[in-house]
Amino acid sequence: MFDLIASDLRQKGYSVQKDALSPSVVSELLRTFTSIPSGELKQAGIGRAQGQHANSEIRGDEIAWIESAHGGAAGQWLEFSAQLQQYLNRNLMLGLFSFESHFAHYAPGAFYKTHVDAFKGQANRVLSVVLYLNPEWGPEDGGEMVLYSDQGTQAVLEKIQPLGGTLVVFLSEDFPHEVRPAKRDRYSIAGWYRVNTSSTLRIDPPA
Ligand code: OGA
Ligand code: MN
Repeated sequence: MFDLIASDLRQKGYSVQKDALSPSVVSELLRTFTSIPSGELKQAGIGRAQGQHANSEIRGDEIAWIESAHGGAAGQWLEFSAQLQQYLNRNLMLGLFSFESHFAHYAPGAFYKTHVDAFKGQANRVLSVVLYLNPEWGPEDGGEMVLYSDQGTQAVLEKIQPLGGTLVVFLSEDFPHEVRPAKRDRYSIAGWYRVNTSSTLRIDPPA
C-alpha cells in the first residue's frame, strides 16, 4: 500500500486508501479517543503560533493531540506514520522530518470550511494525512471531506466518506479541502509531516 500512496503522490499529489489500517487498530483508536475525558479535549484553533484562536465560524471540531502515552493503539498509529514517513523519504525524497497528529471529533452540525493546511513559501507542513475512525458511515450521514484542485477553478477532485479505515494523504500546500457538516458524531485523526526549516536564527513555531 505504501507503494500505491507513493505513486499516487507522484502522479496527482494525493491518495485515498480504503482499509489502510486493520479494523481492530481502527476500533481501538476510536476507543482510545472516546475514553479521553471531555475536559481534556480542546476546541480546535486556526492560524499559527500567537495568532492561534478558536473560531467556530470556520471549524467546529474538538481535538486531542496524540502521544504514545495514550496507550496501545496510539503507539500503533505513530508506528504506522513513522513507517510511511520512512518509505516516502526513501522513495520520493520528501525529507519529512517530524510528525504531529490529533484526534478530532465533529459533533452533529460541526464542519471545517475550505482551507489549506500550509501556505506556499512559509510551508513547513508538507504532507497531510487523515484517517477515519467511524465504524459505519453512509452518504446520508454527510460529513464528507471534499478535496479541491488549486488550479484557479477549485474544481472538486474527490468527495471522501469518513468511513473507518480510510486514509487520505495529500501535499499540504496544494489542495484546499473542507469537512461538510455531518449528521452524526464524526471521528478522525489528522496529521502532518514537516520538513525541518529551523536554523539558529529562526526556530519553527509550534503547530
Ligand atoms: C484538518 C482537516 C479533515 C477531516 O484537520 O485540517 O482538514 O476530514 N481534517 O477530518
Ligand atoms: Mn485540513
